[in-house]
Amino acid sequence: MVKIVTGVAGFIGSSLARRLLENGEIVVGVDCFTDFYPRAIKEKNLLPLRDFPSFKFLEKNILELDSAKLFDGVDGIYHQAAQAGVRSSWGRDFEIYITNNILATQKILEAIKDKKIRMIYASSSSIYGETKKIPMHEDDLPCPVSPYGVTKLAAEHLCGLYYKNFGVPTISLRYFTVYGPRQRPDMAFHRFLKGIMQSEEIVLYGDGEQTRDFTFIKDAVDANVSAMEKGKAGGVYNIGGGSQVSINYCIRRMEAITGKKAKVKRLERQKGDVTHTYADTTRAGADLGFHPSIPLDEGLLQEAEWIEKNILS
Ligand SMILES: NC(=O)c1ccc[n+]([C@@H]2O[C@H](COP(=O)([O-])OP(=O)(O)OC[C@H]3O[C@@H](n4cnc5c(N)ncnc54)[C@H](O)[C@@H]3O)[C@@H](O)[C@H]2O)c1
Repeated sequence: MVKIVTGVAGFIGSSLARRLLENGEIVVGVDCFTDFYPRAIKEKNLLPLRDFPSFKFLEKNILELDSAKLFDGVDGIYHQAAQAGVRSSWGRDFEIYITNNILATQKILEAIKDKKIRMIYASSSSIYGETKKIPMHEDDLPCPVSPYGVTKLAAEHLCGLYYKNFGVPTISLRYFTVYGPRQRPDMAFHRFLKGIMQSEEIVLYGDGEQTRDFTFIKDAVDANVSAMEKGKAGGVYNIGGGSQVSINYCIRRMEAITGKKAKVKRLERQKGDVTHTYADTTRAGADLGFHPSIPLDEGLLQEAEWIEKNILS
């Protein structure tokens, strides 16, 4: 049977597709190379996938897919495609977020509503917003503080609606800041590690005491594979790395790992950034057998090695 991975040229999509191919699955990957970051990076993400004869790549925007044909014979969809990034979701670009996050998700759901294909939707911790209650639990009232979060929540609600009304077995995974090899170039760990390794200034928004629950890419991929197999249809699961650490702490760990001192330029906190995130993953533990396995130092080291090899050389 065939799995579809949307956003296959991106950070999480390419890592997930590789695991599926290694597990012997047939994978059809879809991506339209949005210009959020350079195509060359995404082409590099695709390279190892192209070695597998069981991989087929469609360079297409989801909104232009002939979905009736595409989903025939497919037994699972991992819907990772989106316009990511909190800070750039204000202003005129919001239209791009509506298109790639809400309309594209609705198009897939419409196409599969009579086919009962399982679909894993890549949701986000950003749907929670500035909650006072930590750790964040799936039943908390979502209240996003960025336009990006609003679009991710809208698409998650669409998944829930198509489950309730048409029985489409959708499962939403709310990722908490994913990092590791192939991380997007706009994300803090990627920017910081690259800057520190090159002895360049790094830009930190806010005082650095904001905290995040960082999730290593392998754990996010594990969660997807388990959710396809065991996730409850209509379910929503937090996927977090299991610890809440400040950005200042992470920079200290990066200095220790690279053996170099960070030159930090502090700028004002950006609108849409939340103060703290921390996932209650009890539900994912119980239903998916999800247990984050990679500690921060090990994950940072793997990302630093990847940046050294793939970005700096
Ligand atoms: N990286 C994280 O920490 C994180 C956290 C929470 C949620 N997420 C979600 O996980 C998913 C993957 O994130 P990522 O970090 O890998 O992002 P990414 O930008 O690296 O990958 C997304 C890919 O989707 C493609 N895409 C976007 N719109 C498309 C469309 N209409 N048709 C076809 N392809 C399209 C882009 O070209 C890109 O390659 C996204 O849905 C994102 O919202 C990511």
